[in-house]
Amino acid sequence: MSGHISRRQVIKSLAVAGAAVALPAVSYSRVLGANERLRVGSVGTGGKGWSDLVGVAASPAVEVTALCNIDSSAQHLGRAAEKYPAAKTYADWRKLLDNAGSVDGVIVSTPDFMHAPVSLAAMQLGKHVFCQKPLTHTVFEARQMKEAAQRNKVVTQMGNQIQSHAAYRTAVALVHSGKIGKVKEVHSWQSGQPSWPRNIDRPAGEDAVPETVAWDLWQGVAPRRPYKAGIYHPFNWRGWQDYGTGQLGDFGCHILDPVFKSLLLTSPLELTAEAPPLKPETWTESATVRYVFPGTKYTAGDTLNVTWYDAAGVRPPAEVTAHLPKSYSLPGAGSVLIGEKGTLVIPHVAMPKLFMNGAETETAIEEFPGVDHYVQWADAARGEGETTSTFDYSGPLTETVLLGTVGIRFPGQALKWDAQEMKIPNFTAAEPWLTKSYAKGWEPAWV
Ligand SMILES: NC(=O)c1ccc[n+]([C@@H]2O[C@H](COP(=O)([O-])OP(=O)(O)OC[C@H]3O[C@@H](n4cnc5c(N)ncnc54)[C@H](O)[C@@H]3O)[C@@H](O)[C@H]2O)c1
Repeated sequence: MSGHISRRQVIKSLAVAGAAVALPAVSYSRVLGANERLRVGSVGTGGKGWSDLVGVAASPAVEVTALCNIDSSAQHLGRAAEKYPAAKTYADWRKLLDNAGSVDGVIVSTPDFMHAPVSLAAMQLGKHVFCQKPLTHTVFEARQMKEAAQRNKVVTQMGNQIQSHAAYRTAVALVHSGKIGKVKEVHSWQSGQPSWPRNIDRPAGEDAVPETVAWDLWQGVAPRRPYKAGIYHPFNWRGWQDYGTGQLGDFGCHILDPVFKSLLLTSPLELTAEAPPLKPETWTESATVRYVFPGTKYTAGDTLNVTWYDAAGVRPPAEVTAHLPKSYSLPGAGSVLIGEKGTLVIPHVAMPKLFMNGAETETAIEEFPGVDHYVQWADAARGEGETTSTFDYSGPLTETVLLGTVGIRFPGQALKWDAQEMKIPNFTAAEPWLTKSYAKGWEPAWV
């Protein structure tokens, strides 16, 4: 059984030994027999967390043993507790992990800024982790997640579930088939207009905290601020720099995922963002980020340009649509991969469209079947098969997305990225934004 080492011991040994400490999680994580069920805890049972939980628990080999939410109301903790009455309930994820022996795996579906603190502590206790996208709030945290997963030999999956849909899997298989030839450039965009606040200042005053909400626990590692109804919790935290990662952070790990998967991208060499000036606390309403990646066996040159655009109604420019039939309208979000032989459009959550060079008509493609992203994690944690969005993969994808959010702070400034050293050698003024400070007493359990 697990639980030989407690969460407090993890934090304490980190404090004593310093940042380099390594706990051999494999030596105390539970090895499941073929007929044993995976005991799962969920942190953040409302919002997306509800479908994460129900998705994982769809496996008959999963038993939900712990549920955690800072909000005890029906739509957050309530309905999960009703559906899984045998599970122990918590308001504080640290207490759930204090009772680490009750879970083999943890689903982390909190707002972005709490992904790494919860996941790192869970992994250091030898727990398998399914964590929502973007994997983390900072570039440094993303690297830590990858390292913690490797060091503790746990099964991980980021919650970019579209990766497992037939649509994205078909796109990846098609690029790998060589049908469009080697890829020369990529353009990815999100034209939707989010409902969450952007480009605003902090509202004045303070509202009474609802009885069901533990506001201090919600704030977790973030700096303290007064509660305001409908501004942060739930859902609207996305637009606030302390909590979310803006439109690029919200969608980049979905839309850029088939680009990364198909072209085997890892870290960019350089990026330059264009964006209006940032308000002190919120993200902008539009951004363009031009990444340069090293070439791979699926790309045409030594380097590959990948451009991200987000703004209401935005689409890639005419030079890009020139590779497509005049009658074809690009979807509201997705990617265009311009290859040596053809152009592939990967709409955000729809089957890809293939246009061979010069042809006005679409070429039929063979559909690649989807798999269950949630059950895949539960199965892999029980020793059956593997996940496809491991932190080894999703860590660098998230680093890339979050480097874009660093770039948004310095419009027009090229940022060269030394991925190995995690440095921006040509513009060190941006380096502090690769990480952040943490509320006292809430410092994560670094690897
Ligand atoms: N994969 C997808 O398609 C997809 C879709 C939506 C959201 N998401 C991701 O899911 C995460 C949650 O987003 P959301 O829209 O559901 O947010 P939300 O604010 O609507 O829901 C978060 C839930 O977690 C709870 N919570 C917040 N902090 C907590 C903490 N410290 N401990 C325990 N519970 C806590 C909240 O009460 C709420 O129930 C984000 O990372 C987001 O990017 C992914």
